[in-house]
Amino acid sequence: MGKDPIISIRGAVYSYKGAPSPALCGADLEVLPGEWVALLGANGSGKSTLAKICNALLEPTQGDCFSLSMDCRDPACVPLIRQGAALVFQNPDDQIVASIVEEDVAFGPENLGLTSGEIRRRVDRALELTGLSEHRRRGSHSLSGGQKQRLALAGALALEPKVLILDEATSMLDPEGRAALLECLRELNASGMTLIQITHIMEDIARAGRIAVMQSGRIVWDGLPADFWRGEYLRFGFDEPGELALYRELISRKMIPEGTRPIAEDMAEALCL
Ligand SMILES: Nc1ncnc2c1ncn2[C@@H]1O[C@H](COP(=O)(O)OP(=O)(O)OP(=O)(O)O)[C@@H](O)[C@H]1O
Ligand SMILES: [Mg+2]
Repeated sequence: MGKDPIISIRGAVYSYKGAPSPALCGADLEVLPGEWVALLGANGSGKSTLAKICNALLEPTQGDCFSLSMDCRDPACVPLIRQGAALVFQNPDDQIVASIVEEDVAFGPENLGLTSGEIRRRVDRALELTGLSEHRRRGSHSLSGGQKQRLALAGALALEPKVLILDEATSMLDPEGRAALLECLRELNASGMTLIQITHIMEDIARAGRIAVMQSGRIVWDGLPADFWRGEYLRFGFDEPGELALYRELISRKMIPEGTRPIAEDMAEALCL
């Protein structure tokens, strides 16, 4: 028997007040527990709106949305969905709620009414995972852009969500910060967390197990990265990541098996087999 989806959106339509056309016009997305899905698409294609539907921040005007087997339309489920399918946005300044780093991370768990010991455990873990432990007593607003993005992620992780939705949440990181964050996401995914990652940065998606592309408020392509990198990415006008030329060469010479992901360590591993 297959696993039940952890996110199931069918025919979602959403119109912002006063907007000339709907932001979502019949979007379908199913995500299974433990998947890492990269959600791509041009500006204005509806990615953030879909993310907010997954997290019950917005209610679709038509269609169905179930997150963690709960109906996003049921007011009693909304707080549970927001905690269990946590959303991290692009602009960290909008997400800072307390003036000290560790207090900011503690904000979510405190609102869940947890014991002080449990709050401390979650804050320590979230700070460690995001590499912010040494900055815990600093002023939240004194952090760099990249550190603030990691702080926003730590706040989400402290909720111990089953699903983490990242909406361009790595855009302010330098290459080193991005690599560290991707490693952190890899560990979280390996330990069972479901990831939905919205990004314009091709390097970010190399680790995803599945790629979904949005256009004009719909998912128009959904499949495996190997198929995407075989040519679909050109159809949608995406840049190719640095490793892709080498990847294609290795595949065409049959030096690595089809389905190997175009990331340096996977290619190196496949070459060593
Ligand atoms: N608060 C809002 N009010 C009115 N229209 C909005 C609002 N937010 C988004 N839109 C419109 O809805 C559509 C989808 O926007 P959305 O932010 O979901 O796209 P996106 O794919 O996340 O874009 P980006 O890559 O720029 O973040 C766009 O046409 C956008 O202009
Ligand atoms: Mg967006």
